Amino acid sequence: SFEQSLRPQNLKQYIGQDKVKENLEIFIQAAKLRQETLDHVLLYGPPGLGKTTLAAIIANEMGVNIRTTAGPAIERPGDLAAILTALEPGDVLFIDEIHRLPRTIEEVLYPAMEDFCLDIVIGKGPSARSVRLDLPPFTLVGATTRAGSLSAPLRDRFGVLSRLEYYNETQLTDIVIRTAEVLATEIDELAAVEIARRSRGTPRIANRLLRRVRDFAQVRGNGVVDEQLAKEALELLQVDRLGLDHIDHKLLRGIIEKFRGGPVGLETIAATIGEESHTIEDVYEPYLLQIGFLQRTPRGRIVTDLVYRHFQMEVPKTE
Ligand code: ADE
Repeated sequence: SFEQSLRPQNLKQYIGQDKVKENLEIFIQAAKLRQETLDHVLLYGPPGLGKTTLAAIIANEMGVNIRTTAGPAIERPGDLAAILTALEPGDVLFIDEIHRLPRTIEEVLYPAMEDFCLDIVIGKGPSARSVRLDLPPFTLVGATTRAGSLSAPLRDRFGVLSRLEYYNETQLTDIVIRTAEVLATEIDELAAVEIARRSRGTPRIANRLLRRVRDFAQVRGNGVVDEQLAKEALELLQVDRLGLDHIDHKLLRGIIEKFRGGPVGLETIAATIGEESHTIEDVYEPYLLQIGFLQRTPRGRIVTDLVYRHFQMEVPKTE
C-alpha cells in the first residue's frame, strides 16, 4: 500500500479541471523534453478550486522545489529580492493573491520574469546607485481570484493562463470519496453525492463538509457516513439543499427585503448585511451568479425568480 495525502500530488490524482490539466500536461512535458524551465503560469478563478494545489503539482511534476508567498506579504523590493535570489534553478515561485502585489513591486517583477534579472537601487540621495543581479531561471505561478485586477503588463508576462471552473457533481463526488479514503472514513456513495451537491462546486467546501459530517457520524452514529446521517448533519450545519449558507441567505434576503429584489449596488449590500464588499465579490457572488440566483446589471445586483422559488416566496409580478 502507498501513502496517500489529502492534496493530490500529481496531475493523475487531480480530479476535474480537465482542460487546464490537459494543457499543463503538455507544457510540462515539453519543458522537460527541452530541459527548460516551465513558462510562467497564471491560475485564476474563484477561491477553493485548487489553485494552490495545482501550483504544488506543477513543481512536483517538474521535479523542482516550490517557494510560496502572497501578494500582500511582499511590501518592499528587498522582500522580493530576498525570495528571488534564494531560488534554485528551475524552482517554482508561487505568489498567491498576486493581484494584491504593490505596483512598485510589480515593476521589479517584470525584468525578473522576462530576463531573470533584478535591478535594485541601493543607497539614498546622491550616492544611490542601481545594481543588476542575475537570477536563476524560475517559473512564477501566480494565483488570483480576479484576473481583471491584474495590470495588463503583468498579465502579459505569463505564458500560460488557466482559468479554473466550478466542479460538477460527479467530480465533487469523486473528490469526497477520495478524501474519505485518505481519512480512512467509510462513506456511502449516496452520502458522498449529498455532500457534493451542497458544496457549491468547490472542493475546499466539499472536504470541509465531509470532515464535519464525519464528526457527526463518529459521535451520533457508528462512524459510517450514510445518506441519512449526511443529510441530518448538513441540516445541522445550516447548509441548504443548494449548499447556500447563512451569509448567502442574508445577502439574498437582504436584497429582497430591503431593496425589493434590486437593483442595488455592491457597497450598499455590503453595508446592509455587514460583510466586506471584497468578500462578497470574490467569495459569495461568483457562485450565486453561476447558478443564476444573482444578476449584475449596470444599475446594480438583482435577484432572479429562482431565489424567490428557492425560499418558497411568491415571485413578484413585473410592472
Ligand atoms: N482534493 C481537493 N481538490 C481535489 C482535486 N481536484 N482532485 C483530487 N483531490 C482533491
